[in-house]
Amino acid sequence: METMMAIRLQDYGGPESLVYESAPRPTPGDHEILVRVRAAGVNPVDWKFCAGWMRERLLVDLPVVPGLDLSGTVVAVGRLARNWRVGDEVFGRTSLGGHGAFAEYAVAPADAFARKPPHLDHVHAAAIPTAGLTAWQALFGQEGANRGLEPAPGRRILVHGGAGGVGSFAVQLAKWKGAQVLVTGRAENGPFLRGLGADVVIDRESARFEDIAGVVDAVLDLVGGETLDRSLQVLSRGGAIASAVGSPSVEQAAERGVRIVPLWARTVPAQLERLATLVGDKVLRVVVSEVLPLAHARRALELSRGGQVRGKLVLEIGG
Ligand SMILES: NC(=O)c1ccc[n+]([C@@H]2O[C@H](COP(=O)([O-])OP(=O)(O)OC[C@H]3O[C@@H](n4cnc5c(N)ncnc54)[C@H](OP(=O)(O)O)[C@@H]3O)[C@@H](O)[C@H]2O)c1
Repeated sequence: METMMAIRLQDYGGPESLVYESAPRPTPGDHEILVRVRAAGVNPVDWKFCAGWMRERLLVDLPVVPGLDLSGTVVAVGRLARNWRVGDEVFGRTSLGGHGAFAEYAVAPADAFARKPPHLDHVHAAAIPTAGLTAWQALFGQEGANRGLEPAPGRRILVHGGAGGVGSFAVQLAKWKGAQVLVTGRAENGPFLRGLGADVVIDRESARFEDIAGVVDAVLDLVGGETLDRSLQVLSRGGAIASAVGSPSVEQAAERGVRIVPLWARTVPAQLERLATLVGDKVLRVVVSEVLPLAHARRALELSRGGQVRGKLVLEIGG
């Protein structure tokens, strides 16, 4: 049996339940590819998964390798995964509870990847998938399905949690489309958020956003709780709200004439390619605040759980 070094979750719990150890190297099924992982992006869903938030829905057998986002090189291709060849450089997403990204090798569905262009290194490519797709789908909708928040000139969009992974993409994409972008965050993130294109930064610790934002056309909520509940008050009739964290009240939204944009990030390779192109065109910057070695995944998840990560954390794997 071939082995690899991996981070494995032995039992549900905090990041301390993660162990860096030797594990069997997975083999791809018919529609899958085996990727030599060069970098794995870290998302809040990783620590939530490890803490058992999805254990009843996913019914995963432990131990399991966590991690969703990765960039690497294809080393084996399933019998029916004809879109990739050995040696292709790809970035994309594994499945939650499957053979995760926090390992030297990962198996994932072949249709959950895009080609990694040469202008993107593995670290920056691995930082894109979940956060970039969530921002894209919130703003522009899911391919052929719902409408997004539709940033455009003359439209005011409020982003809660703009300094994080999803937010750092969303602020830039909304600005690219010409919207006026308002963002909530800690005061110390003000210059960073303005650098991403925020027109107005609201210090969430010293002010209530309702007192400063005025009326907005759209809200992207990346925080949840009472921030989400209070957001309906600042939306114009005909406005739209998307939350990556909670469910806006359907009754209150209907009462106020606000459209709810459903948001659950799906892996759409064409959108990954579009995001990568925008990075190449210098429209979009992938903000990576820290790169850690695979063995330090525990630390990365602790930081993520702390809720103050600026941009993205990425694990770099192998030389
Ligand atoms: N439904 C989906 O498909 C989906 C997809 C992706 C993400 N998500 C969820 O969406 C949330 C955001 O994801 P992410 O990757 O952007 O997380 P993240 O990178 O961990 O976001 C961290 C940022 O959130 C900001 N923040 C924390 N509390 C805040 C508050 N009360 N008000 C305003 N900003 C606050 C912090 O900025 P400051 O320090 O400046 O406050 C920090 O920079 C997570 O809960 C994640 O699980 C869901």
